[in-house]
Amino acid sequence: MADKPTKGLADVVAASTALSDIDGKAGRLFYRGYDIHDLAGRTTFEETAHLLQHGSLPSRDQLAAYGAELVRGRTLGGLVASNIPEIAAKQEPMEALRTLVSLAGADDADKDSNAADANLRKAARLTAQQPLLVALYHAARTGATIPDPDPELSIAANFLLQITGRTPSQREVEIFDTCLVLHADHTMNASTFAARVCAATLSDMHSAIVAAIGTLKGPLHGGANEQVMRTLEAIDPSGVAQTVRDKLAAGEKIMGFGHRVYKTEDPRATHLRKMSRELGEASGDDTYYRMSKEMEEVVFAEKGLYPNVDFYAATVYHYLGIPTDLFTPVFSVSRMSGWTAHVIEQHADNRLIRPDSEYIGERDQKWKPIDER
Ligand code: COA
Repeated sequence: MADKPTKGLADVVAASTALSDIDGKAGRLFYRGYDIHDLAGRTTFEETAHLLQHGSLPSRDQLAAYGAELVRGRTLGGLVASNIPEIAAKQEPMEALRTLVSLAGADDADKDSNAADANLRKAARLTAQQPLLVALYHAARTGATIPDPDPELSIAANFLLQITGRTPSQREVEIFDTCLVLHADHTMNASTFAARVCAATLSDMHSAIVAAIGTLKGPLHGGANEQVMRTLEAIDPSGVAQTVRDKLAAGEKIMGFGHRVYKTEDPRATHLRKMSRELGEASGDDTYYRMSKEMEEVVFAEKGLYPNVDFYAATVYHYLGIPTDLFTPVFSVSRMSGWTAHVIEQHADNRLIRPDSEYIGERDQKWKPIDER
């Protein structure tokens, strides 16, 4: 008989990876051995994606080649491009991305290959296309005309330009770029696990990413950042503490708090808190930052819980002018670099992921013909 399962697979080691590592007690996160505190604010998202997908921080020449590949990879096939208007009219942002990535798979030149070189090319294309898909979706639903991505600009700069319709400041680009770096990978989180389970059947990269997007969508995972902003918007600034206490008393979870692995502050939250404060002060109205800070203090006092990556990401994105329902899609823009790297890693040393289950149903049932049931 199988061992008793650990509910939610907590503490179960489900895969070996050289991509990222968490020390939950010390509150530390590493991408391929680099401390997130060394990368954040010093390494661009493009360099980080290269680190994850290719295994090393790029030299100048490697970065130029990878950057050129990303620029080429943005070109969308006819199937996905022609369907954006109808999808934008009918689907919520994360549903739409799930559909659009699936359609993009049909147009991908390497769709029938799981070979390492084909996977690397698909990883670059998916990383390049995801921000564009979000921007085109948003443009289609709002009727806005957006500028084509500028090949001279970074993914972060192009995305802010296309989403907000205005040229972002250098500092805004730096901050958003850091957000993308902070969200790029995070060991066996639910969406990455979903991607690896799919890839481990020797299914293709796009199928694995569709599984990941569907998994990221839920409010216990990527959807939490949007819920954080909706909570802040719904609360009276003078009633933060009482609202939090009421919610906790009613047994509600406060979105953006708690983590399966971190038992202390999530190191990504440390950076996001600072950036939220900076942007809030620069905007001339830091109400949401101050409300967040108060909420953090009350949740810690009441439950001993720390904010996770989604908590301060919400106000950072808000201050950057990103619509609230695009917060989770932004997470996917970044996490695409990690998901694709995990699929590459899974295919490189594969075994089917097929755990056991504990049977808790009835036994020894006697079959009866349909008229006797
Ligand atoms: N607000 C209030 N209580 C919370 C909480 C939160 N955000 N997160 C955890 N808790 C409490 C639970 O109610 C539970 O209390 P209990 O033992 O008295 O029942 C305890 O802490 C353990 O929580 P549990 O949900 O079992 O932990 P988990 O490891 O399964 O879940 C999360 C981890 C992240 C899913 C969970 O903390 C959560 O739902 N957070 C809110 C959603 C969120 O921000 N998700 C983004 C994660 S990066």
